[in-house]
Amino acid sequence: EKIVLAYSGGLDTSVILKWLKETYDAEIIAFTADIGQKDELDGLEAKALATGASKVYIDDLRDEFAKDFIYPMFQAGTLYEGQYLLGTSIARPLIAKRMVDIARAEGAAYIAHGATGKGNDQVRFELTAAALAPEIGVIAPWRLEAFREEFPGRAEMIAYAEKHNIPVTASAAKPYSTDRNLLHISFESGMLEDPWFDPSSEENESMYVLSVSPENAPDKAEYVELTFAEGNCTAINGKELSPLEVMDTLNELGGKHGIGRVDMVENRFVGMKSRGVYETPGGTILFTAHRKMESLTMDREVMHLRDSLIAKYSQLVYNGFWFAPERLALQALVTESQRNVSGVVRLKLYKGNVIGAGVQSPVSLYNPDIATMEADPSKAYDQGDATGFIRLNALRLKVSSAVSNK
Ligand code: ARG
Ligand code: SIN
Repeated sequence: EKIVLAYSGGLDTSVILKWLKETYDAEIIAFTADIGQKDELDGLEAKALATGASKVYIDDLRDEFAKDFIYPMFQAGTLYEGQYLLGTSIARPLIAKRMVDIARAEGAAYIAHGATGKGNDQVRFELTAAALAPEIGVIAPWRLEAFREEFPGRAEMIAYAEKHNIPVTASAAKPYSTDRNLLHISFESGMLEDPWFDPSSEENESMYVLSVSPENAPDKAEYVELTFAEGNCTAINGKELSPLEVMDTLNELGGKHGIGRVDMVENRFVGMKSRGVYETPGGTILFTAHRKMESLTMDREVMHLRDSLIAKYSQLVYNGFWFAPERLALQALVTESQRNVSGVVRLKLYKGNVIGAGVQSPVSLYNPDIATMEADPSKAYDQGDATGFIRLNALRLKVSSAVSNK
């Protein structure tokens, strides 16, 4: 039997690797997607082999992640519950997609993951697998009673790791859980479970990875220009960049200026509320710039229609329905809505803020001749027309007012 395990090298997936191998007497193929978690990948292959993997895949999926997942999602202006840029959510379908590809190539009947039975990630992995490879079975150890009985807490996992000579890294000792990729790093559990705990306090500063605090950011603002073509950022400060390079560049800039920290209580798909802290420096700049580009170039009704779908689109990504037919249908509309979203946005980055500092486009829909409060040289707008426009729109208000005042 062969099992492909989504492996991170952390305590949980290390223990799971060994446990699966012993429990199922199976060959374990460890798979790690490089989606921008940087130094977390150091020494991973050796570690997986030492822990008992028969084969290790560490696949660089960063370009694909930026181009085919982050970019289309940002075209939609996605924001879950008004705050979360979905950094973890959008990565899961890509990881699961590659995992089932490997399972098929290796002739493995099962994939396995270390997501708990209480979170969103299990849903995202498994809905993706169901959509792309329904013949492949899933093993989720955290949902198996035998596994939970053997590992009621971290102490038992650490003891098991020691017994089996699995190296426990420093990050496994951290009192909270993190998930890092090109778009963000998330922090959950531990002291964060108390919603009154203040993660922005000076004492907690060492938790953060991608950004300085706004208090510690430079006192001098920095300008940056983002060029867009059909809703996608294609250049920064005039230099053409790939989606991956854009994310790297913006993360660097945003992190330096304390941009993109979010602290929220969110609604998980499985029903509970959970407290999360996020650093999304580059994504926050991209999100703001994109909206400003749209403000100049997008037709009003197209924008309002797309905007009405943001909550829906966000929910689909959050809940794991990336490869569902309704997300694909929505994407077609979103991508079509971006046809005219091209030009340049200038921003000022200053102590956690992303401040608009100008926007221009060869396909701008903004016409100063029409909008001006001065005499209109274009004669496109006759102020007298507004009288009838208002009168017709007022008609039903007058009728209903008369009725309710009776
Ligand atoms: N709450 C966020 C989400 O559901 C982040 C989850 C973090 N996942 C993790 N395995 N640490 O998207
Ligand atoms: C987990 O439970 O595995 C992490 C949190 C989540 O998926 O929401």
